Amino acid sequence: QPGQPLRVMIAGAPAAGKGTQCAKIVDKYGLMHISVGDLLRAEVAAGTPAGRKAKNFMDNGDLVPNEVVVEMVKNKLGEDEVQQNGWLLDGYPRSGEQAEAIEKEGIRPDIFLLINVPDELLIDRVVGRRSDPATGEIYHLTFKPPPPEIVSRLVQRSDDTEEKARNRLRTYHANVDAVVGYYKNEVVEIDGTASMDMVFEDIVAAIDGIRHLA
Ligand code: AP5
Repeated sequence: QPGQPLRVMIAGAPAAGKGTQCAKIVDKYGLMHISVGDLLRAEVAAGTPAGRKAKNFMDNGDLVPNEVVVEMVKNKLGEDEVQQNGWLLDGYPRSGEQAEAIEKEGIRPDIFLLINVPDELLIDRVVGRRSDPATGEIYHLTFKPPPPEIVSRLVQRSDDTEEKARNRLRTYHANVDAVVGYYKNEVVEIDGTASMDMVFEDIVAAIDGIRHLA
């Protein structure tokens, strides 16, 4: 609705570029970024009960059980700051049941961005990814090389091996159609094979397009 804070969902296969584009979207639109993968990794690192439950599923590239994820997301979306600024939900819903769970609460996006990249490009993106724990910046050894002076502090995610990525891809393909089925009227498909800046241009056009309609 006009004047209402924007609500955006972003989806795509592992390493399709969700995190990369979310940083740009947040800069431009000031939305609150809710990355379920990042929230879960923080729980694992802190050794909380939720993190202990989640760890093996994440390491294997399987979905973490809904009992851990659903409440976490609902609580986040309910925070005052998130309601006031609008949200960018990254990595949720990942199954029909997860979509159903927020649907019941009346939570829907204004736009559902689906970043498409063929599987054969994704493995290279996964194994070359490195992130900077100091800034949160995402790099790629080939596609977005890090400055030499920070290389020694970069980290690689434990699920970023080829074998685990293949299972993450299987999980994604098994669920994506059910999720998209909930957002048929909001979905905008984005070609994720282009350069990071081109992908962002398409996303801005899509978001600004629906804002003009509002
Ligand atoms: P999550 O952390 O969400 O991982 P993912 O979905 O596998 O996605 P990634 O973070 O790997 O990739 P991305 O799309 O953000 O790509 P990025 O921008 O980094 O989830 C991890 C795990 O948590 C799941 O497996 C599951 O276990 C659990 N989980 C999460 N949500 C859950 C839920 N709702 N329910 C249950 N369990 C859940 O880019 C990748 C690389 O490519 C980077 O190196 C980047 O530099 C490069 N790159 C990006 N864009 C381009 C481009 N256009 N051209 C060239 N290179 C590019």
